Amino acid sequence: MSVDSTAYRDGILAAYQGELIGESLYRELANRSMVGDRKAKLHAIADVERHTHCKLKPIAERLGINVNEAQWMRVVERRLSELESMAWPDFIDKALRDWPPYIARFEALKQLAPAGDADTIKWLVDHEAALVAFARIEHDDMGSNASLRRLQTYLEETPDGRRELRTSGKL
Ligand SMILES: [Fe+2]
Repeated sequence: MSVDSTAYRDGILAAYQGELIGESLYRELANRSMVGDRKAKLHAIADVERHTHCKLKPIAERLGINVNEAQWMRVVERRLSELESMAWPDFIDKALRDWPPYIARFEALKQLAPAGDADTIKWLVDHEAALVAFARIEHDDMGSNASLRRLQTYLEETPDGRRELRTSGKL
């Protein structure tokens, strides 16, 4: 394997596992949330993460990537206990610190992608941009539905994304 294809495989592994962790983590935070708009927003984040790992799955399978569920569930547990006790404004501030670097990381992965994977990696970049936009809107207009609408619009406009909206009962 060339250096580039090894780097690409490592990047897909990290992204695929990250999306699996993200869906479980935000879904569980949503299930535990007692505040209506936050519950809906956390479910929408989980929907976006779910959509993204479903899109990455065929690439991960082609590359022979096998994620270790026990390992990533431990990460979910650890991050759950960290995030669950956090106040919502702090959670959003943390998202604004932690999420934007992924856009550059996924852009770099796009440069390594074979032509047939380019569309999928573009969605990977776009989903992170949508999540960062969500966090910025929520930061500036906390408690409104504008941030939630940004994620719903992303799912509506993304191929197969409408299925996630149906799954979570939003259509
Ligand atoms: Fe993600």
